[in-house]
Amino acid sequence: MSRKPFIAGNWKMNMTVAEGTKLITELKPLVKEAKCDIALCVPAILIPAMTKAAKGSKIKIGAQNVHWAEAGAYTGEISADMLKDYGVKYVIIGHSERRQYFGDTNDTVNLRTIKALENELTPIVCVGETLEEREAGKTEDVLARQLEFGLFGIEDVKKIVIAYEPVWAIGTGKTATDEQAQETIAFIRKRLSKMFGLKDANRVRILYGGSMNAKNCKGLMAQHDIDGGLIGGASLKLDFATIVNYDK
Ligand code: PGA
Repeated sequence: MSRKPFIAGNWKMNMTVAEGTKLITELKPLVKEAKCDIALCVPAILIPAMTKAAKGSKIKIGAQNVHWAEAGAYTGEISADMLKDYGVKYVIIGHSERRQYFGDTNDTVNLRTIKALENELTPIVCVGETLEEREAGKTEDVLARQLEFGLFGIEDVKKIVIAYEPVWAIGTGKTATDEQAQETIAFIRKRLSKMFGLKDANRVRILYGGSMNAKNCKGLMAQHDIDGGLIGGASLKLDFATIVNYDK
């Protein structure tokens, strides 16, 4: 079953127009030969300028969130139409920072995911356990719930990308081992297969995220069920190109 590898950056709340343009301009020649899909999910206000900067390259610009309503009184939120206006293809949904600091739940993740799909945006749905949950042996329960509620009612799961991001590995420099990441992602695929059937589950791209960097990317990408990475810190520098070229 071949799934095209996908390396996505998550800039979080970083970069000005000048900084982002400089980085993308420098990345462009370095990722020319890449065989994977590439995205940079940038702060919404940077989308127009970064789209311009990435033009003519393999880098697609994505967003970090999308609201489930068409339009309306939702101060501070961004609609799918607004993202589509700028040709956005990917949108991160339910990142653990959104869940932790901004009240996202499995239910809002579900609503956002449905909205993204309705608008032909590819959702990158994030799931992952906290350290407490892992230590209490609850990882599989937590993930099963996140998938069950987060993807409730989804018709075509193949259109979704899942990012497995153990919360304890995000921005901490503590990466999951290759085996831990493989084992957990294989579990996620098994759950998807229960929910959507084996054939479709085998076509869903599942990324690993959490302190993935230029050094550890090769080992992670060599794992059978890991189809790519969601890269935070290392996507803010040229290391991102090394990760994109993990197979070279
Ligand atoms: P990190 O972030 O690579 O800086 O750990 C990953 C993420 O939060 O998506």
